Amino acid sequence: MILVTGGAGFIGSNFVLDWLGHVGEPVVNLDKLTYAGNPDNLVALKSDERYRFVHGDIGDAGLVASLLKDSQPRAIVNFAAESHVDRSIHGPDDFIQTNIVGTFHLLETVRAYWTELDGSAKAAFRFLHVSTDEVYGSLEPGDSAFQETNAYRPNSPYSASKASSDHLIRAYHHTFGLPVLTTNCSNNYGPYQFPEKLIPLVIHNALAGKSLPIYGDGRQIRDWLYVKDHCAAVCRVLEAGRLGETYNVGGWNEKPNIDVVHTICDMLDELAPPSTRGLSPATYRSLITFVKDRPGHDRRYAIDATKIERELGWKPVETFETGIRKTVQWYLDHQPWVRNVTSGSYRQWVETQYRA
Ligand code: NAD
Ligand code: DAU
Repeated sequence: MILVTGGAGFIGSNFVLDWLGHVGEPVVNLDKLTYAGNPDNLVALKSDERYRFVHGDIGDAGLVASLLKDSQPRAIVNFAAESHVDRSIHGPDDFIQTNIVGTFHLLETVRAYWTELDGSAKAAFRFLHVSTDEVYGSLEPGDSAFQETNAYRPNSPYSASKASSDHLIRAYHHTFGLPVLTTNCSNNYGPYQFPEKLIPLVIHNALAGKSLPIYGDGRQIRDWLYVKDHCAAVCRVLEAGRLGETYNVGGWNEKPNIDVVHTICDMLDELAPPSTRGLSPATYRSLITFVKDRPGHDRRYAIDATKIERELGWKPVETFETGIRKTVQWYLDHQPWVRNVTSGSYRQWVETQYRA
């Protein structure tokens, strides 16, 4: 079996569902269930004997040690993290605790477990750490896309905490021989993404007739990766990645934020016209509002994903146009899920972040 951490979050829950659907090997999911963790994402697995949920913190060495002893995983896929840049600006503490200190404790506990494994189990063991393109910093318009050899230049508390965890992963391989793999991916989008991130926030606000907040001039560029393509890349790296290597994972879909928001508005005009929802504007585009910029806002990210294609044969299946259509349709079809996750503390976050 494999141990997934953070499997109740956006990418983790897509990964667990896809893994059990395609690979079928049992999974234990260790998740702290922060505001971003939602067991409802995995409700379809309620009576699936291949799936077990454990509520806990990656930094709880006692819990993780006994979990490893009992379940004897052949691999760990580490998704657990605080993941939202804006929250890291309002309050970096949790980012330091989970992304740096938590990853350190997890590495120590896994190292102790791995050291005790015998010959073939020890050789086959893998620890895959999921990281981000944000560790490479910000690009200017004409710069080449990020390659695995780029220097780390994190600019936010979030990306600095992820960069620190990547360094720890690298050091545990170099110093102790722990069999690690690291993936650095671009902006994911798709089902089950918490509506604090741009794409689900825009869909959610538009359907409610609320303003669509664009930071600064809206010309910042991100590379968009459909979450299921990302999950397939993680599977492939786990299966065949070279130990100690990092692999950049991207969608070859660089887009300015304003274009992304226009695309979503136009798609909603077609699939759920404002009039059918009792809204007065003729088009969702008229809800767009430019608001104050994110402090230290990175201008452009772009991923060069040729290494993973050349070495492991992975490339994304979805274009932005196909992926965003699936995503918009998913949110339209899952309004009760959206209602559940946007109650309570979500409202407080929106009030804090978008206060004029
Ligand atoms: P998310 O915020 O949706 O989910 C994170 C999950 O981790 C939640 O279920 C949460 O409860 C859990 N968690 C948080 N702290 C924990 C702890 N101490 N112990 C155990 N579980 C804990 O995040 P996501 O968007 O699914 O991202 C998953 C991973 O991928 C993160 O490491 C993130 O940095 C990385 N990443 C995300 C993106 C993206 O676009 N979403 C892009 C690049 C990299
Ligand atoms: O690049 C990978 C990263 O992508 C991941 O490591 C992070 O975990 C993930 O959250 C994401 O970070 P971003 O900051 O790029 O994603 P976010 O959805 O928050 O913002 C995308 C862009 O949209 C960014 O330029 C900021 C802008 N934005 C965001 C929000 C929430 C707005 O203009 N308005 C908004 O309300």
